[in-house]
Amino acid sequence: MKRIRPCTLLLFLFSGIAIAADIPPTPAVATAHPAATEAGMAILAEGGNAFDAAVAISAALAVVEPYSSGIGGGGFWLLHEAGGREVMIDGRERAPLAAHRNMYLDPAGQPVEGLSMDGPLAAGIPGEPAALAHIAEQYGRLPLAQTLAPAIRLAREGFEVTPHYRRMASFRKGALKASPAAAELFLADGEVPSPGARIRQPELAQTLEAIARSGHDGFYRGPVAERLVSGVQAAGGIWSLEDLSGYEVVEREPVRTHYRGYTLVSAAPPSSGGVALATMLNILEGYDLKEADPVQRTHLVVEAMRRAYRDRAEYLGDPDFVQVPLERLTHPFYAAGLRATISPEQATPSRSLPGFAIEAKGRDTTHFSVLDGDGNYVAATLSVNYPFGSGFVVPGTGVLLNDEMDDFSAKPGVPNLYGLVGAEANAIAPGKRMLSSMSPTFVRGEERVAILGTPGGSRIITMVLLGILEFVDGGEPEAWVGRPRYHHQYLPDRIFHEPDAFSAAEVAALTALGHELEPLERPYGNMQAILWDRRAGQVKAASDPRLEGRARVGR
Ligand code: DON
Repeated sequence: MKRIRPCTLLLFLFSGIAIAADIPPTPAVATAHPAATEAGMAILAEGGNAFDAAVAISAALAVVEPYSSGIGGGGFWLLHEAGGREVMIDGRERAPLAAHRNMYLDPAGQPVEGLSMDGPLAAGIPGEPAALAHIAEQYGRLPLAQTLAPAIRLAREGFEVTPHYRRMASFRKGALKASPAAAELFLADGEVPSPGARIRQPELAQTLEAIARSGHDGFYRGPVAERLVSGVQAAGGIWSLEDLSGYEVVEREPVRTHYRGYTLVSAAPPSSGGVALATMLNILEGYDLKEADPVQRTHLVVEAMRRAYRDRAEYLGDPDFVQVPLERLTHPFYAAGLRATISPEQATPSRSLPGFAIEAKGRDTTHFSVLDGDGNYVAATLSVNYPFGSGFVVPGTGVLLNDEMDDFSAKPGVPNLYGLVGAEANAIAPGKRMLSSMSPTFVRGEERVAILGTPGGSRIITMVLLGILEFVDGGEPEAWVGRPRYHHQYLPDRIFHEPDAFSAAEVAALTALGHELEPLERPYGNMQAILWDRRAGQVKAASDPRLEGRARVGR
């Protein structure tokens, strides 16, 4: 735990005007669930900083959004200390030590349907408990017993089933039914619970209490670890005690680039998010998007997306295992080369670019943003991958396991059953972290700071890009989170878009440029965003209107 930085106090006392810009007038929290927003606000009111609030929010989301994230999963926490230091806490899951590259293939070398998606074999070694303990210890002011208290209470007292819960549970009913402990917790007599029913998780409360008491070791060693390993093994999984005792978070330098006077700070590998955002923004830096008409603008943004996603699939993986050409991919000269291949009059067929493909996947995950009254802030994107992860709850622990192993390419170079193609860089190896698209992001200008992110599988990165473009154009958080969305990811060579993203005339004009468009049936994403306008001395926050989150500004 850390105390208030004396330099902040001194600055406050002695530097008048300058300090008005350095300290936000009020804190703000935006999360995907009202109970998590309240947990964050409560911890700030108790004297916690943004990092304490991030711990409380993460744990609360683990309880009330079991379909999105949890202590059986992982994530990336991007931290900004008021003094200026920034770091990404990599709490991504790792492949178990007994994992091997062909573990999801049948003897004929074909992927076995469901194996990397349902049940304990699909689960990577969780990183979230380690990340929470690390953040509390290194960056927070309050003990875990205090920051985990709201989550423990929510687990005991229960939360109400919402329409979104019901949609997610019905999507994963099969996997949940296959795990008696999961069915008991998340279904009612094997069916999706009625709206308003209460979901109580007393064993999860006990596991959270073990973490509150013993920190990292409360989960990764001792009785909880033993229960996790025996429960996983009894159901056909391959975890060992060494997997758990050997898990460590990694502090990574975020990816940075500059765009129109703003600094982008975003997730480093093993996320592909920061690198792809940097490539896209570097490409777009060469155009005057504000002057471009809407069709031309969409065309150029799509061409930038196409090129960044090609590189994503080819080069990115766990930097502790493969060499990621980070500097090249994020360099403005490299982007200039890519830009030179873009025709303003014609879509570039993806097949004409050399390389590789990766398809959209993943259905649930969560993001939150928090800013405290001292000017510390956090953007965090957390996941168990598919809704309700692997659907498997380890008996006696209340821990729902992720199915993040599906984020590896099960068979490098060849599409697997879920349409995913990746490269050698993202092949399975013992102890390796799987590639992610999660992109918690800050964008900082002289006056305005944006803190944002969203779930949405491989569409995360393009959603964050569209949000950033709105911000740079001067838009407010409501516009970043609410704007209609479109997405291109190299292959399939198509612009996927929300039903209301384009007018009929725009669809016709984009088609005439050679683009193929595919309207999606429903809106996507769940962005949570905060704006700190230092010059105006204002803080604003917004939660994606598509779902059930809540943004709050002020105490
Ligand atoms: O790490 C990733 O990229 C995926 N596991 C995220 C999945 C996701 O965002 C699904 N959300 N709707």
